[in-house]
Amino acid sequence: MEYRKIGKWGIRVSEIGLGSWLTYGQSVSESESAKQIEYAYQYGINFFDTANVYGLGSGEEAVGKALHKFRRDSYVLATKLFFPMGDGPNDRGLSRKHIFEQCESSLRRLKTDYIDIYQCHRYDPDVPLFEIVRAMDDLARQGKILYWGVSEWSSKQIEAAVDTAKGMNALPPISNQPRYNMLQRDIEEEVIPTCKKLGLGQVVFSPLAQGVLTGKYAIDKPLPEHSRAADNRLSGFIRQSLTRENLLLVEELKAIANELNISMVQLALAWCLRLPEISSTIIGATSINHIEDNQKASGLKIPREVLDRISDFLNNRVMSHK
Ligand SMILES: NC(=O)c1ccc[n+]([C@@H]2O[C@H](COP(=O)([O-])OP(=O)(O)OC[C@H]3O[C@@H](n4cnc5c(N)ncnc54)[C@H](OP(=O)(O)O)[C@@H]3O)[C@@H](O)[C@H]2O)c1
Repeated sequence: MEYRKIGKWGIRVSEIGLGSWLTYGQSVSESESAKQIEYAYQYGINFFDTANVYGLGSGEEAVGKALHKFRRDSYVLATKLFFPMGDGPNDRGLSRKHIFEQCESSLRRLKTDYIDIYQCHRYDPDVPLFEIVRAMDDLARQGKILYWGVSEWSSKQIEAAVDTAKGMNALPPISNQPRYNMLQRDIEEEVIPTCKKLGLGQVVFSPLAQGVLTGKYAIDKPLPEHSRAADNRLSGFIRQSLTRENLLLVEELKAIANELNISMVQLALAWCLRLPEISSTIIGATSINHIEDNQKASGLKIPREVLDRISDFLNNRVMSHK
């Protein structure tokens, strides 16, 4: 496993990170969740991502339980807040009140004294940036978080957060967690260059487009049993990307993976990691085999000539999402 710095900052994360949305503490049983997280850790994955809202706390609990047995300084734990955790008027968003209260709840569920990267799951237009930056900076000064980051913020919002922090002599966000994969590349135009200029690294989510880029979904074939797309409780988002155009494209990408003698998954992850601005690709997994296959993408260099071909190919095709 290879490790990268997050932007200009000192902390290093594994090129393949492991997330827990829809999986650990939710669709994957508690004992199996622990097995998979431990397996990933043994393989050198040191970056684990979760969120308070995943299973309304059960995702964090599963991750905390599994990692608890390892030395705390040997892994980087990231969680998030923003989405509603209850029905009350203060049970959501990025107010100082909610940030402080959710940080305490996350620490308890994660069985730890500190969070390495505390991420704002979305931008909150109802809270002044000053309030958010001050709350994050105070948590950092208290030692409850080491760094903070954002997720799915626009380049303008990220720029404003860094400016605000500078004006307050406070800790700025160090990372951005956007969606990024061969089928969804919107961050290339503005978000990546802005973050590069400001020193933030990208820890990208859904690098396999939730499984579409594994090659296991095929045109006119039934959905594979036990897959995310086949489960009505989990398929809300993935189904939007399971279009005929995307599946045709994956078929062609599979041929390139075959040429290189690597799996489609490894091609998709190594393609994200071709950019030095990507600090980590946060994968999801529902079996140990997934982790074993996916972690092999770390350190894999796709030849320049093949990258150029992929780039021409992706630029000339229309990706479609319903
Ligand atoms: N910040 C945000 O708003 C946000 C949003 C989404 C996700 N995230 C983070 O990013 C993480 C990853 O997201 P994601 O789960 O969408 O990532 P992904 O890696 O694109 O998709 C993961 C899914 O693909 C399938 N898969 C993975 N490896 C496979 C393999 N080798 N062979 C066959 N199938 C394979 C599995 O689904 P099945 O086995 O179930 O088919 C797995 O759960 C999340 O856990 C979360 O931590 C953050």
